[in-house]
Amino acid sequence: MKSIFWAAVGMCAGTVFAADSITFHKNVEPILQKNCQSCHRPGQIAPMSLLTYQGTRPWAKAMKAAVVSRKMPPWFADPKYGHFSNDRALPQSDINTIVAWADGGAPEGNATDAPRPIAWPADGWLVQPDYVVKGPTYKVPAKGVLAEVVVPSGLSKDTWITSLEIKPSAYKVAHHICVSFIAHKPDVKYGVPVWVDEQRDETGSALPRAKGVRNELPGVPGVAKDERALIGTRFNPRGVEGCYVPGHQVMDYRAFHAAKLVPANTDIVFQLHYSAAGTPMTDKPEVGFTIAKEPPQRRYISYNSQPSVGTDSSVFRIPPNDPNWQSPPAEIFFNEDVQLVSMMPHMHERGKDMTYNLEYPTGEKQIILKVPRYDFNWQLGYETDVKVRKGSKMTVDAHFDNSPNNKSNPDASRPVYYGDQTGEEMMAPFFGVVVEMKQDPEKVITVKGGRGRGGP
Ligand code: HEC
Repeated sequence: MKSIFWAAVGMCAGTVFAADSITFHKNVEPILQKNCQSCHRPGQIAPMSLLTYQGTRPWAKAMKAAVVSRKMPPWFADPKYGHFSNDRALPQSDINTIVAWADGGAPEGNATDAPRPIAWPADGWLVQPDYVVKGPTYKVPAKGVLAEVVVPSGLSKDTWITSLEIKPSAYKVAHHICVSFIAHKPDVKYGVPVWVDEQRDETGSALPRAKGVRNELPGVPGVAKDERALIGTRFNPRGVEGCYVPGHQVMDYRAFHAAKLVPANTDIVFQLHYSAAGTPMTDKPEVGFTIAKEPPQRRYISYNSQPSVGTDSSVFRIPPNDPNWQSPPAEIFFNEDVQLVSMMPHMHERGKDMTYNLEYPTGEKQIILKVPRYDFNWQLGYETDVKVRKGSKMTVDAHFDNSPNNKSNPDASRPVYYGDQTGEEMMAPFFGVVVEMKQDPEKVITVKGGRGRGGP
């Protein structure tokens, strides 16, 4: 009896739903606010704005296709593993709503049904910063480049920052922009671009190199040897503090009651990587911080390059035409209890998949993130909350596709070695942890075979 009653109510509700048509303001706009507008608004990376009905209406059919295929919003974690607080994947009910709206002629509905518009921070920020450091004004040539430029932070006291956001101005060409903190040196040359380089062949791809050796490219125009030497003494041997990459959100440590220390008189290195747009452009990147109002309870630590696998070309060599080359794993040992709060797989154009596995001291194993179809164009951070006990080990596995079937592959006929340029490769499982203030940040992890130098 009871079940018949509920079936009847269900049918009734279904009928009401269909008759009362799905409208933009009532049903679709809330979904766009939550899942789309961070990118689809003026001044952001997406090609069109989805802030208004007028702006959205012409895209109804394309939106249906994009959400049904799960091309939008970009999200690549296999839902079988892990839990992510920034999970952008639409629930099936939201997909159904967008489909029904598009199929029903994309009606506007009543403006009084609209949710309150989101007050996005000014000037294209996602988090309104308390303090902004202007990076260099960089003339991006027609061909893609990777360069480092030092600027002063302007912070004359030790400062605990609670979020870090990097904002390019030329989204079209900004491939990644990372910042690291370095100690001020009196002879620093602010604003002078310095090349980060490998020994390259005539096609511009990295050559093999011996274990532990950092190749230097002699005679890079305009860069004296001593200028190059200025780079590389980062405070954080674990690598960069944060990056802008397409689709990446702000690094906000407040969610974990944590902060990161920027020592007094720090200089900031902007590591700039632009993709060729065919025409020269100018980028004016900035980094914005929110600043702790009171002493932080916990410390946020980013591990952004130390866990990378192998610059050694005898182990890291992706053969030509190999569709599924397995990299040696990254192995990270936890010497302390930590809260693992973020992961960001980083590979280049031949990256195929990456899986983060955790093995607890009890021997229990768990996959905490699996990205089965890595997309080089979307480097996403996955925010999580995993309590990792001292004595645990994280093993990260990755595969690379150096075959012509990989649409991003610029050249399947050559072996690929480790290198910073995107036509070279990296196997870099970035992650972030939060620890108590009394824990020594230098002793939290040990990396087997890590490369221990900065830069993604
Ligand atoms: C992280 C940023 C981001 C988010 C979030 C996002 N988009 Fe996009 N979207 C983009 C970018 C960049 C493009 C253009 C490049 C591309 O098509 O991959 C795009 C393209 C599109 C297109 C054109 C697709 C095509 O095939 O030409 C549609 C439609 C779209 N988005 C709808 C949505 C909808 C609906 C949502 C939310 C449910 C959403 N997007 C969320 C960044 C985003």
